Amino acid sequence: MAFKHSLIQTYKVFVVFFSLFLSSAIQTTYAQSSAVPADAEKIAAGEKLFSQNCKACHRVQSKLVGPALKNVYDRRELPWIYSFVKNSQKVIQSGDEYAVNLFNEYNQTEMTAFSSFSDDEILSIMAYIKDQTDNPPVEAAAPAAGGEMSAEPAAIPTPYVNAIIIGAVIILIVLLVVLVMIVNTLRSFLAQRDLSPEDAEFVAKPAGFATALRNKALIGVIAAVVTAVVTKGVIDSLYSVGVQQGYAPTQPIKYSHKIHAGDYKIDCNYCHTGVTKSKNANIPSPNICMNCHSAIQKGTNTGTTEIDKIYAAVESNTPIKWVRVHNLPDLAYFNHSQHVAVGGLECQTCHGPIEEMEVVRQYANLTMGWCVNCHRETPLNTKGNGYYDKLVEIHEGNGDFTVAENGGIDCAKCHY
Ligand code: HEC
Ligand code: HEC
Ligand code: HEC
Ligand code: HEC
Ligand code: HEC
Ligand code: HEC
Repeated sequence: MAFKHSLIQTYKVFVVFFSLFLSSAIQTTYAQSSAVPADAEKIAAGEKLFSQNCKACHRVQSKLVGPALKNVYDRRELPWIYSFVKNSQKVIQSGDEYAVNLFNEYNQTEMTAFSSFSDDEILSIMAYIKDQTDNPPVEAAAPAAGGEMSAEPAAIPTPYVNAIIIGAVIILIVLLVVLVMIVNTLRSFLAQRDLSPEDAEFVAKPAGFATALRNKALIGVIAAVVTAVVTKGVIDSLYSVGVQQGYAPTQPIKYSHKIHAGDYKIDCNYCHTGVTKSKNANIPSPNICMNCHSAIQKGTNTGTTEIDKIYAAVESNTPIKWVRVHNLPDLAYFNHSQHVAVGGLECQTCHGPIEEMEVVRQYANLTMGWCVNCHRETPLNTKGNGYYDKLVEIHEGNGDFTVAENGGIDCAKCHY
């Protein structure tokens, strides 16, 4: 009896200990993950912030410039994450052991400080990371099985285009055959009738190319069309003197907007820092490249050849000699912040799909007509801009209040 009793006693103690251990373990992981919200709105906000600010250096599932971020909210306390994201150097300098080790592990690469972020914004990034951890994107697994895949799913596949062209040609041939049959039927029908000699000659005449050329009306039409096409060509070529649309010079470094702004979704503002604040958008200095390229020393397509040129520029302290693509003549005044910050226009409206370009090319023609047309057609972005309230009031009921009506086509607005 005594033996059995003590066995039960031990068993009870064991159960208590085990459940205590289990509950505490659950509690530590549970407390953190459950604090990370899972609602769609937060996740979407987090995805945007992540794409614009973190994606250049972090992936959720894998290591890039910085560590894979999946489960960070389990590795670290949320307040720690907040301070680290806002200013990682401060955390490292405070002697935090984890942070110091991580910093050394990542070759002392400094993470950008996001001091303007609120805790809530960082929490939404965590929500996105948690969503990605729990539901990893399917595409990660797909390429291995699928093999080569078309890079441009949006375009119509070539076989279809060919089928459409062949189909059209067949229809045209059938039409031609039917027309010839109709002409022959009509001719044999007329031949059976009594016709005056004149009509008989006309019917017998072969309906060929030579006959058509003797038709004055037809010649007149052809002459008019040819003259119109030639004149348009001449006028177009005169107008395009000095117009550099499509200009895409070779740059000293094979820098690709497709990789940076497209694939890695780095925000345009990250490099073109002046675009919302001043007249010029600014081309980034090599130091901005170094924020990432001190760690990314090799590219997938060009290896070290191109990235080494950034190091050479930084070491010798000489600017990279980028070739200017867009260039208005000095007589015209154009201001980026007016259009981007005040007007609320997207870069792509004027520069086209930059995020798809390996080499930047001039998308719009940048003529005066282009500027003026847009000013005539675009309503002013007056919402939430107190400056415009009075003007809008006066203008009430007169249709769209366009840039032109606000003086946007006065010569002096664009000419010094
Ligand atoms: C310029 C590159 C860069 C950018 C941009 C960047 N990080 Fe980092 N991040 C790093 C590096 C490198 C580390 C490793 C620690 C170190 O070297 O300081 C790191 C570490 C971290 C850690 C700690 C990870 C762990 O395993 O404990 C978190 C959390 C983090 N980053 C979040 C973010 C968030 C959120 C953003 C965007 C708002 C961001 N990072 C943007 C480079 C970057
Ligand atoms: C990582 C830095 C970086 C990012 C991000 C970036 N750019 Fe650039 N951009 C450059 C550099 C460097 C050049 C000069 C070399 C060239 O023309 O390719 C440039 C050139 C340009 C030019 C041509 C300038 C000229 O000479 O007339 C335009 C327009 C432009 N960028 C628009 C954009 C837009 C729009 C985005 C966002 C979708 C963007 N850039 C994102 C670095 C960047
Ligand atoms: C915010 C981070 C970031 C900044 C800033 C940045 N890059 Fe990059 N860059 C990357 C990433 C990520 C890659 C892709 C590396 C790879 O191919 O795996 C890359 C690749 C490259 C490559 C190699 C492309 C290839 O496939 O071979 C070149 C060249 C390059 N960048 C030039 C520049 C220049 C010049 C600047 C400054 C105007 C710049 N980068 C700024 C993140 C950055
Ligand atoms: C309303 C049309 C318009 C919009 C919108 C616009 N740009 Fe431009 N951009 C221009 C014109 C025009 C030039 C040529 C300016 C000149 O030569 O003075 C230019 C020139 C540039 C240049 C060359 C260098 C410089 O500082 O002038 C860069 C880089 C650039 N744009 C980036 C951007 C980015 C990034 C955005 C979006 C945030 C943007 N642009 C939005 C019309 C536009
Ligand atoms: C895609 C449309 C678009 C194009 C193209 C465009 N603009 Fe504008 N522009 C605007 C809008 C919208 C505003 C009004 C911004 C605001 O709310 O003040 C504006 C305002 C201006 C103003 C200030 C006008 C005022 O009344 O104060 C000037 C100057 C100007 N643009 C010059 C130019 C020049 C020069 C070009 C050509 C190189 C150009 N813009 C091309 C849309 C455009
Ligand atoms: C919205 C901006 C804008 C307004 C308003 C504007 N211009 Fe221009 N103008 C330009 C730009 C940009 C160029 C340079 C591009 C070009 O040569 O087509 C230019 C070029 C010119 C040129 C030089 C043409 C050449 O081939 O060198 C003359 C002359 C001119 N403008 C006269 C005027 C007069 C007169 C007015 C008023 C009725 C006016 N502009 C209003 C933007 C404007």
